[in-house]
Amino acid sequence: MGDEWLTWHRSYEDDPTMAGRLREVQRAIRRVLDILPPGPIRVVSGCSGDGRDLLGALVAHPRARDVTARLVDLTPELVRRGRRRAHRAGLTNVRFVLGDASIADAYMGAVPADLVLFCGIFGNISDADVHRSIRHLPELCAEGATVIWTRGRFRPDLTPAIRAWFERAGFVERSFVTIPGSTKAVGVHRLARTPSPLRPGVRLFTFLPYARRPATLAGTRGRGRSGPGGDRPAATGSRGPESGPTTAQKRTPRGRNGTHGSPFFHGVRRPPNDGGGPSA
Ligand SMILES: C[S@@+](CC[C@H](N)C(=O)[O-])C[C@H]1O[C@@H](n2cnc3c(N)ncnc32)[C@H](O)[C@@H]1O
Repeated sequence: MGDEWLTWHRSYEDDPTMAGRLREVQRAIRRVLDILPPGPIRVVSGCSGDGRDLLGALVAHPRARDVTARLVDLTPELVRRGRRRAHRAGLTNVRFVLGDASIADAYMGAVPADLVLFCGIFGNISDADVHRSIRHLPELCAEGATVIWTRGRFRPDLTPAIRAWFERAGFVERSFVTIPGSTKAVGVHRLARTPSPLRPGVRLFTFLPYARRPATLAGTRGRGRSGPGGDRPAATGSRGPESGPTTAQKRTPRGRNGTHGSPFFHGVRRPPNDGGGPSA
């Protein structure tokens, strides 16, 4: 893997829109923790990187000690960093696994989970694999579980299709937030049907070679600074959800502040159309 993903992670420090995405993911994680009933909470994170989204959300959260988590990533240094950070925070039940998160087996023994993080994946795989992953996500979920995912809205904007695919797979949208000054977006979906059993051996997705990743291709059409992992500026003017409601939006009422339908996440901010910018 080289240090490609170490460089990508550095953009959390360099790029305010990455920090914005992180804040939004952490906010969504805390909201899930806030509403889960008392008792153990299971979390899995695929391609977790150094796990700063979950770890940051857990620090100082009253439910932190209820959480047992498995975070799976293929970059040894990121796994080491995550382990160090979890150890320092005293989060002994947050476990980083060095492994391949693209195969269902990576999650065996850690699911069904109440919260599934799929962040920084959908911009690096084919559209068909995004769809395939979403179809299989109910296998990672406990009843009523929440999936938090990210994907840039660079052209061609796949997020309307992604939201429709989640709906078709039995999820209900809780929020969809775009990060100003970028194409970044964070989606939150809750499973509204009976979960499926995990099937071992199933491949969920395959990371494409760098040059063929959707986020990379968007970057080469875009402007400005470039960096690995698709976190680079993309063309503006993507046809986002602002330009027309998806099926999911038509069916879910608009919440306050322009949030797209969340009986749970009332008042989730939905920033104005961000136009273009980096994302993965
Ligand atoms: C764009 S980063 C996202 C990291 C983290 N989820 C975030 O949003 O901050 C993609 C991550 O996927 C990891 N990765 C790539 N292919 C993987 C695979 N097959 N299994 C597990 N991790 C993988 C990389 O090491 C990298 O940390």
